[in-house]
Formats: sequence, structure tokens, C-alpha cells
Amino acid sequence: MGRHRLIAGAILIFTLFTGVIFPSDAQGEGNGNGLTVGFYASSCPKVEDIVTEVVARLSKQDPTLPPALLRLFFHDCFVKGCDASVLLDETPSGQPVEKKSAGNGDTIRGLEVIDEIKTQVEKECPKTVSCADILAFAAREAVNLSGLPRHTVPAGRHDSRTSRASDADYYLPTPAMPLEKIIAMFAERNLTIEDMVVLLGAHSMGQAHCTQFTDRLYKFNKDTPRDPSLNAIYGNELAGKCPEAMSKEQASRTTVDLDPTTPRVLDIQYYVNLLQGRGLLQSDQVLSTDSRTGGIVNAMAASSDTWSTKFLRAIIKMGRSNVLTEDEGEIRTNCRNYLK
Ligand code: HEM
Repeated sequence: MGRHRLIAGAILIFTLFTGVIFPSDAQGEGNGNGLTVGFYASSCPKVEDIVTEVVARLSKQDPTLPPALLRLFFHDCFVKGCDASVLLDETPSGQPVEKKSAGNGDTIRGLEVIDEIKTQVEKECPKTVSCADILAFAAREAVNLSGLPRHTVPAGRHDSRTSRASDADYYLPTPAMPLEKIIAMFAERNLTIEDMVVLLGAHSMGQAHCTQFTDRLYKFNKDTPRDPSLNAIYGNELAGKCPEAMSKEQASRTTVDLDPTTPRVLDIQYYVNLLQGRGLLQSDQVLSTDSRTGGIVNAMAASSDTWSTKFLRAIIKMGRSNVLTEDEGEIRTNCRNYLK
């Protein structure tokens, strides 16, 4: 038996016994290959423990934080790559930053968690750990606290000095977008249709504001006010929570669970819901009926193990998207500010 086979065998046995997912399973082609597991082993050996402690402590106080942190990582990676651009309050160009975009605006949360981690990490090892890596570590904790095995996180990302609201508006998918366009956006991040369906399982936890789906209840199209793909009972429940008479202001402050059955857990209930017409966002519900994605939804709804293994691999793969490494980018000392 060759050396590579022996190593592969050892990795397989380790994975089977520990449930730890190896990033080599999830390498995106060309992208992010400068990242390595244990990147801070000698320069900041405590960083991953610090992230674990802070995310666990703050999530105990506010159990809605894990979904917020996972979404923050997604929104970072989808806009030009995982470079912490979503965290900047301003940039040298002075243009409005990603945080000010429609897709982020009032709905991104969890920024204070990243601030607290960064403060502690800077005390432990100044100017060493990037905000982009902290986001990736924090997302791993969010996933783990929500019930999935702990995956290893390749690191070595650097932080960008640019962040533009117009880029976020361009690169972030929205619930009303045609599936065709959403598929193209994931492809741009080197993610396949299967990766996309698997990653959307993230919507098995967390919340959405009424403004994100009330068109499906009251203004679907000129002949049919309510989206016919919506389960009738579920549609009535949603209408109870977000009535038509609700003011825009109230709707932008009122939230509903993305998964009404198990809202705090990452699980395959999301796919089961889709098969029952209980997907909250239009972009979710369409996955169960479109010929490119329907079979994948069925397969995920049938096996927790299949979905969770694929989900962790896809998260690692997404985290490799267009990263800055080595002499690109910088290591911020405060995640909200570029180096001056
Ligand atoms: C078609 C692609 C996607 C669309 C259109 C989409 C859209 C949305 C919208 C509209 C919300 C509700 C935001 C709010 O009103 O506060 C949301 C929440 C969320 N999204 Fe997505 N999303 C997509 C993909 C993803 C992916 C790939 C992930 C992660 C891997 C993700 C993770 C989350 C999480 C965890 C929440 C809950 C956030 C919270 O509780 O604060 N989404 N998404």
C-alpha cells in the first residue's frame, strides 16, 4: 500500500471516530489554497479557544446569536470573498460600506461578538490574527453550538481595505431573485447547485423580518395575492404574525422564525418544511419544485448524516472564497477600522 493510501486510511478512521471534518475534503478549485489548519498554532495558540469561549458565553446570554454569526460569515464571503469587508465602518475611499447596503442594513447582527473576540485576541497576540479568520472561527462555533459536529477551519486570511455597499447589493442574493440568478451567484463563489441547496440548510435556524416575505402573502401577482406554493395553514400563521395592515416600520422590526418547527437547531427540518410548502422565503420554497434542485431537497430531507457532512464541507469551501493571503490585505487591530 502506498504512503498516500495509508494517510487517507488513517484520516478516514480518525474522521469516523471523532466526527471531525477535514478541510482537504472541501477544497475549492483554485480558491483559497493558501489557507492551512492550525495557521496560528505557534503565533497565537489560544485564538481558537478565545473564540470558543466568547461565542459560547455571549450565545448563552442571547441564544439568537449563532444564526446571526453564521449569516455574517456568509455575507462576508459572498461579497468579493472572505476578507472581513462586511465589518468595516469606513474605508479610505469614503464610499458607503457594505453594512449600509439594503441586504445588510438593519438585519446583520452579531458584530459586537466579533468586537469582543478581537479585543481579547489583540491582548493575547497583538497584530497577528485577521478579522476574516475570526469570522470563520466564530461561524464554526455558531454551527457547533447549533448541533453539528465541530469542523476544522483552515486559516491565514487577511483583511481587505475596501467595502462598498454597491458590491453588497450586487453580490448578495435576495428572496425574490429568480433561481437562475441565485445559482449563478453561488457559481461565482465556486459553489455548485448541490453546495447551494446544502448551504441553504442554514435557514433551519434564525429569523427573518416580515418585510422579507409579506409580498408572498398579499402581493404575489396581480391575479393571485397569495403565493400558491405556500401551505395554507402556514400562510395563515404568517399572516397572523405579519398582518397586511402592519406599517412598514413595524414590519421591519417584527421577525418570524425561518424554521417554525426547530428554530434554534441546524437540522434537516428545513428540507422537510420545504416539501410541505412551509419554506418562509420564496427563494427557499422554489428549491423543492425546480427540476435542478428538487432531487437534492428530497435527498437532504431523507438523511441527517448526508446533509450535515455535506453542509460542513460546503461551509469550509465557502470560507475559501477569494481570500487574501500572504502579502495581500492586512491584519486590522480593530475589525471596524482599516489600518491608518
Ligand atoms: C439564496 C440565498 C440566500 C438568500 C436569498 C438569503 C436570504 C436571507 C434573508 C432574507 C434572511 C432574513 C434576514 C432578516 O430579515 O433578518 C436570512 C437569514 C439568514 N440566513 Fe440567509 N439567505 C441565503 C443564503 C444563506 C446562506 C448560504 C447562509 C449560510 C450558510 C444563510 C444563513 C442565514 C441565517 C443563519 C439566517 C438567520 C439570521 C438571523 O437569525 O439573524 N443564508 N437569509
